[in-house]
Amino acid sequence: MGSLDLKRIVADAQRAFDNAADTVTLENEKARFLGKTGALTELLKSLGKQLDPQVRKSKGVCINIAKLQVEAALNRRRKAIADALMNQRLTSEEVDVTLPGRCSSVGSLHPVMQTWERIEQIFNSIGFDIVDGPEIETDWYNFTALNSPENHPARSMQDTFYLNKKDENGRALLLRTHTSPMQIRYAKMTKPPIKSIFPGRTYRVDSNATHSPMFNQVEGLWIDKNISFADLKGVYTDFLRKFFERKDILVRFRPSYFPFTEPSAEIDMRFECGRNAGRWLEISGSGQVHPHVLRNMNLDHQRYIGFAFGSGLERLTMLRYGVDDLRTFFESDLRFLRQFV
Ligand code: DAH
Repeated sequence: MGSLDLKRIVADAQRAFDNAADTVTLENEKARFLGKTGALTELLKSLGKQLDPQVRKSKGVCINIAKLQVEAALNRRRKAIADALMNQRLTSEEVDVTLPGRCSSVGSLHPVMQTWERIEQIFNSIGFDIVDGPEIETDWYNFTALNSPENHPARSMQDTFYLNKKDENGRALLLRTHTSPMQIRYAKMTKPPIKSIFPGRTYRVDSNATHSPMFNQVEGLWIDKNISFADLKGVYTDFLRKFFERKDILVRFRPSYFPFTEPSAEIDMRFECGRNAGRWLEISGSGQVHPHVLRNMNLDHQRYIGFAFGSGLERLTMLRYGVDDLRTFFESDLRFLRQFV
């Protein structure tokens, strides 16, 4: 072995290291020169005892110098690869500190909930309490106590979501089909005068452009010794003018039928000008509380009289904003909802 051989090994190692593109290749190349069976290691092993000690020493020194050179080349390449990696990360993960900050966006109330809040605020301002009630009802509160006959179509399985369970008294349970049961529940809890609204979710087996299986209603109830239809007309007309923020609203009471009111009326409204002008729009059911219902409230129908109404919140919202498909309220499409922020 001459010094030429060593020079060649060093040059080979240098080239091999420089060509290694990544750490794994580089470490494999290292094994070829410095590993247990690497070229330099083999040379060192070949310095047998039989050699002249002087020769052995000088050869050993030369081999070790070559080894140091190879190691230095290896370390240079290791550092170069690490630096390149770091630079790559620095550019790819670069943060542009001049970009505007990301702000967390603030949500807003659903249009139907905005209607709910407006209604509460308007009725509250004229002395109505706001009362919440259960969405799972017994058929007694939902139908029987409201004077709905046994064979009323709304009681059928096609119209009503019944639960498989019964309550502790064996009464059928269902998702309330309207907020009217709250009239009975609340009247049984308090004493007249009763002047309250009961907003809440209601459920029916119904689904099309103007009906959804879950929808919202607000029930109104005013019971005292001398409450008349004129009060109903005054309160409801005032409500509509405030709700729609318009003075040009005409209201008419159209005779109708509900089991729990007598007489009963459908409330229709009409804008005198602007969008939808001239058309009568049905907006609410209403009526004078039926004597049977007063009895189920444990009230004396000779002493007390009152009115009730029930209006759909989706319907009011659709009219207020000119929305023509109720299903858009339940699709959670932000393009639609953002218009009500
Ligand atoms: N509960 C009725 C419905 O859901 C609406 C209604 C009509 C409520 C007349 C009333 C009323 O309080 O007096 O169709």
